[in-house]
Parts: sequence; structure tokens; C-alpha cells
Amino acid sequence: MLIAGNWKLNCNINEATKLVKNLIANIDNKKVNCEVVIFPPYTVLFEIKKIIQKSNIILGAQDCSSEIKGAYTGDVSAEMISDVGCKYVIVGHSERRLYRAEDNEIILKKATNAQKYNLIPIVCVGEKAVDRDKGIAIEVIKKQLEHSLPLNCSKKNCVIAYEPVWAIGTGVIPSIEAIKEMFSMIKEWLYEKYKDRNIKILYGGSVNNDNVKEIFSCKDVGGLLIGGVSLKADEFSKICINI
Ligand code: PGA
Repeated sequence: MLIAGNWKLNCNINEATKLVKNLIANIDNKKVNCEVVIFPPYTVLFEIKKIIQKSNIILGAQDCSSEIKGAYTGDVSAEMISDVGCKYVIVGHSERRLYRAEDNEIILKKATNAQKYNLIPIVCVGEKAVDRDKGIAIEVIKKQLEHSLPLNCSKKNCVIAYEPVWAIGTGVIPSIEAIKEMFSMIKEWLYEKYKDRNIKILYGGSVNNDNVKEIFSCKDVGGLLIGGVSLKADEFSKICINI
């Protein structure tokens, strides 16, 4: 089980330090049955790495460059992210697909770079509300999987996050039937392609302490990608401890 906290564009050094110290105080020394990974912004990764060193919290980055090195102003490479002590990197989050016009081709390059530098990419997929309304959600997700996942994926080097775009930050989550249908399709698809039934699939989109039990009633859910609530140390810790 993996619980991922995506801090997005939040937290200066002071705020990030406070948040992570609160998290450590809440979950360290507790019997936590999951891997807890936080994804702070780049600027605080180094500082946070020092603070979590002796804790059971793991570090990840929110994105990486589709390039390896060179004249790409503003980019941060997979190698740099690995160097600062991250284990995971999120790629293809819907906010990047939407606001930064990243397509499957770019996401594939990012995920491949991540694997090359021993990072585990968390490759995000998710349909828009209009796709679900049209009844093509499954097709849309299959296409994203087909074109944004690297050639070699296994439970050791890849994680998938299913995040319906319309559920992110809205307080709305899909029905449990819809989650079950999507997860079983993704599971089967991954088996067909990679012959691995144990690649983790996370659910993301408006997860909170009240709906987490319902989400986990789908047995294929291998963890959570949490946005808003990951900035609330107490609620996020509760989710991690109660799993
Ligand atoms: P949310 O975000 O939990 O705030 O809906 C999830 C995400 O964007 O990963």
C-alpha cells in the first residue's frame, strides 16, 4: 500500500518544514502499514530530505523533465531528482496535461527518464467529465496507458495513478462501481501488456478521511494520491495510520 501526498504549488521552506515535522510527530513510531511518500515542490526537497532522514517518510518529486541534460531553462532532470534523494516522481498529472499541454509522448519520455535514473514514476491517467458523460472513459484511459507507459513496467519500477479529472479538488468521487470497473480494466490491461498482476494502481481525486474506507472497498486499489488533504498533517496522518 502506498499513500502519496502531492503538495502541488504550496509551501515555502518554513511552511514545508512545519508540515513535515507535524507529519513525523504524528506517524513516526506508529505502526504504519503503508509506504508514506510526500511530494513537496522542488525548492524544498533538499531541506525536507534532511528532516525525514531518520523517519519512515519517503521523498518524491512532482514532475521531471522529458530531457536528460542541457539547454532546457527551468527544467529539472530525473537524475537531479534522484540525486537529491527522491524515490518516486509523479508524471502526467492532469494539471500538467491540461495547463502545460503535456501529451502522452512527453509523459512517456518523462517516465522513461525516471526509470533510467532509478526513480519510480507514478504515471497519472484520468478522463475528463465530458469523456465520462459520453461513455468513453474506459477507452480514454486505455489510450493514455498505451501511449504514456514505458516499454518495461513491473511492480518494481512503475506505479499507475487513476485520477478522474472531474474528481480532483472538487469534493466529488466516482461511485464505487465506477472505481471497481476502472481498476479491474487497468489491472487486466497491465497484465496483458506486462504480465505483472502486482503493478500498484493508486486512486486520486478528493480523497479524505471520510471517503477513504469506501475507496478501499475496491480490492484493486493499491494506494492513494492525495492533494488537498496532504497539506493537513492531522488528517493525512490519520489516513496513513488507519490503513
Ligand atoms: P485532490 O488532488 O486530493 O486535492 O483532489 C489529487 C491530485 O491532484 O493528485
